[in-house]
Amino acid sequence: MLRVENLVVRYGHGSKTVVAVDDVSIAVDAASIVGLVGESGSGKSTLARAVVGLAPISAGRVSWNGLEFDPTSRARRDLARRPLQYIFQDPYASLDPRMSIGTSVAEGLGGRRRGRAARVGELLELVRLDPGDATKLPRQLSGGQRQRVAIARALASDPQILIADEITSALDVSVQGAVLNLLKEIQAETGVGILFISHNLAVVRYMAQTISVMKSGKLVEHGTTDEVIERPSHPYTQELLAAVPRLV
Ligand SMILES: Nc1ncnc2c1ncn2[C@@H]1O[C@H](COP(=O)(O)OP(=O)(O)OP(=O)(O)O)[C@@H](O)[C@H]1O
Ligand SMILES: [Mg+2]
Repeated sequence: MLRVENLVVRYGHGSKTVVAVDDVSIAVDAASIVGLVGESGSGKSTLARAVVGLAPISAGRVSWNGLEFDPTSRARRDLARRPLQYIFQDPYASLDPRMSIGTSVAEGLGGRRRGRAARVGELLELVRLDPGDATKLPRQLSGGQRQRVAIARALASDPQILIADEITSALDVSVQGAVLNLLKEIQAETGVGILFISHNLAVVRYMAQTISVMKSGKLVEHGTTDEVIERPSHPYTQELLAAVPRLV
């Protein structure tokens, strides 16, 4: 459904050029979780941002259901964004502190007028929040609850693909697992496809059916989760695996 082919993103000019994404191809279909893993600075967020028009594309193509589109063109941006939602790492920064969480979630509903409050309530229930909390401000919620609001807002436009970029790394370890489980449950309930990005291979293994591994802007490994974990072909994946604490 979402297909990224031979994507290149360059920042800067001349000798200062950084090739943040270097000829990367990746595909995300409905009803699946695709994991994207790699160390800090490997280009994961840049790839995701390019797909939603937030980073410049130097080469390559992005297509949706077989049709190529330019994520950075204004006309295309809305079209591309509605079925494609990006959940940011930091729920503290991504929610407007002055806006009630119900209003934040309702923003994702676009122009739809009828039944707004009811739909907001349903979305809050979907992320296991109390619909009665709709009037609360973000500061009245915990980090994990705020990230649930961000997920509810992303789901409001009935997206076909969610991009979840390090959505638990700003959270306390004690609530990370709950947010991951919630995302898995929502995936099963709604059939949304998810590009799940993390620097933590253990987390990606838990979440995803296929895994792509990035290093220094390049895709160095791709396969089903079992293949990548059982038979990593690239030394870098082996390093990442070795760094994963053993789960008893
Ligand atoms: N706006 C920008 N301008 C210049 N360079 C950038 C910009 N954004 C990212 N980069 C560079 O691109 C490279 C990839 O960064 P990116 O944020 O995509 O990595 P990442 O894999 O998401 O890392 P992390 O796990 O820390 O989130 C890095 O070298 C970074 O410094
Ligand atoms: Mg990142």
